[in-house]
Amino acid sequence: MGKSSSDAMRAADVSPSSGAFELERREPGWARPIFDPRDGDAEDDVSSPKQKSLLAIAGSLLAEISLTKLLLAWIASIVLPAAILGLAPLIVTAWVGGVFSRALELYGFGAALLLLVIVAAGWFGWRPLFRVAEANFWALNALGVQPGYALCREAIRHLAERSLKPRGGTELARMRATSCAGAGILLALVAALVAAFVWPHTRWIGSTADLAVPHHLIVPTLANAIVVMSAYLAAASLVWGFADATMDQPLDLDAFDAAPSDARVWRVAHLSDIHIVGERYGFRIESGRGGPRGNERVKRVLARLEAEHAARPLDLILITGDMTDAGRSGEWAEFFDILAGHPELAGRMLVLPGNHDVNVVDRANPARLDLPFSPAKTLRKMRALSAMAAFDADRLRVMNAGAAEPGLTLAATLAPQRQAIETFADQGGLRLSNQLARVWDELFPLILPPAEDAGLGVAILNSNADTNFSFTNALGMIPVGQASRLTAAFDAYPEARWIVGLHHHLIEYPMPVAAFSERIGTALINGSWFQRVLKPYSERVVVMHGHRHVDWIGACGKLKIVSAPSPVMAPDSKPTHFYVHALAQGADGRLALMTPTRIDLAAAETGAGG
Ligand SMILES: [Fe+2]
Repeated sequence: MGKSSSDAMRAADVSPSSGAFELERREPGWARPIFDPRDGDAEDDVSSPKQKSLLAIAGSLLAEISLTKLLLAWIASIVLPAAILGLAPLIVTAWVGGVFSRALELYGFGAALLLLVIVAAGWFGWRPLFRVAEANFWALNALGVQPGYALCREAIRHLAERSLKPRGGTELARMRATSCAGAGILLALVAALVAAFVWPHTRWIGSTADLAVPHHLIVPTLANAIVVMSAYLAAASLVWGFADATMDQPLDLDAFDAAPSDARVWRVAHLSDIHIVGERYGFRIESGRGGPRGNERVKRVLARLEAEHAARPLDLILITGDMTDAGRSGEWAEFFDILAGHPELAGRMLVLPGNHDVNVVDRANPARLDLPFSPAKTLRKMRALSAMAAFDADRLRVMNAGAAEPGLTLAATLAPQRQAIETFADQGGLRLSNQLARVWDELFPLILPPAEDAGLGVAILNSNADTNFSFTNALGMIPVGQASRLTAAFDAYPEARWIVGLHHHLIEYPMPVAAFSERIGTALINGSWFQRVLKPYSERVVVMHGHRHVDWIGACGKLKIVSAPSPVMAPDSKPTHFYVHALAQGADGRLALMTPTRIDLAAAETGAGG
């Protein structure tokens, strides 16, 4: 190696025009390195679940993880919420007990008046405490309870599918429904057992005397929190299990709608998961050297789209997330560099955040985690937001909580924050990070209202769970507030049709035996709930998503779901494809989904292989 590279250096140092070099000229292949660095090496596969087993990645994770950060993250996201939840009843009862003993010492009108004043003060004081306890309850729910149910449900489904090997979609759907109910019952039993076991250690009545020995409250506080959460899990998993069992299961689409003769047709190119890298010879986290190199394939996708648009104009190009591979500035820069060659396409484009845009903490190290309050996480969100604001910010509108119709445009909403965003991008900092994280949380769904009453609107969601860990970056979740703002937007335009764009898949497709890690590590945790939210609107909605890189078009009941294949994430030696969809005003307010145009991309030309 040493000899060869020093030989290479000597050859490279000598100018081709010098006489000495003429005498020493060798074969053209002589100056090559031992292996071609453009092909990458083992380091490019280090976080790729396609190249390494999950066990191997988990092993290196254990070796690499920062225990200090893990401890802090646990305290902030589990221990503290649990402590607040468990302490709340003790504080409330201690306070009420204090009030009554004081009142007993007084008589007559004075006592009644004092009691009234104290109760009024308690009423207002109690509400913030209740709100804090409630917020922590939901935080624990999102972090542990609901993912626990989803894990149990998918594990039972996975085992059932592997052992019973169902034939066809209907049989698979029936089996999945049964496993949902089974998971609900099983988890309810386990949770009830846990609650019964911990119950003797709980204490629900506090007193002012506890203040003298606060460490005596540690065990009852934790026991209280465990009992509250497991009682909730027992009840909720039964409700979820039976709701999931009785809901419409996903089936492949029977048939596309026929083209209505005189209705308006919208042509929508659906791209997803282009995972742009920042380096010319860069490989993607997920596929490693088994996937494409650099951004050549992305460029070819846009060239094909340009030709398609020239032949038959497109109304919308929707990219449902993972525009970048790790949400880094250099990757967003490449994205805009590539788009600069296609202004016509960029002017019709809408993008939404995927987990790779906002949740990947470290490209090379799955053990890296952000602290829950880390500005690095907000920085990735602001990069994504800054990019999203480049697309139709004057037409996209923000739904405010409780509002009956969309409010200000994205541009107008962000105008007062622009300075803060620029300063934060330049300097970071906790204060701006907290402020801008709240702006981000309240921004979705973004609504592109329909041009006319019965037109086509687009709703853009953020389905990324707030994870702090590269290892869990792929999890998805739709917050309740986002879902209610979405249905409020639907209600504001009762005749409109809608594309609902989000990154994550709502539900596991009717394809037998997906790898278990894909079922549980990547799905929307509350996807079946969100599907029930959409059900009343299902005839006028098409859901478009990415994330799985799988080409699937199907339906849950009447709700049509389109999963975009990734036109990029395949070995350079393999062809890829994407779709241009045709949507139309169907009869009776329905949204018709017609046969899409499939655009194929051949394998890369020789020399581009990775
Ligand atoms: Fe993704």
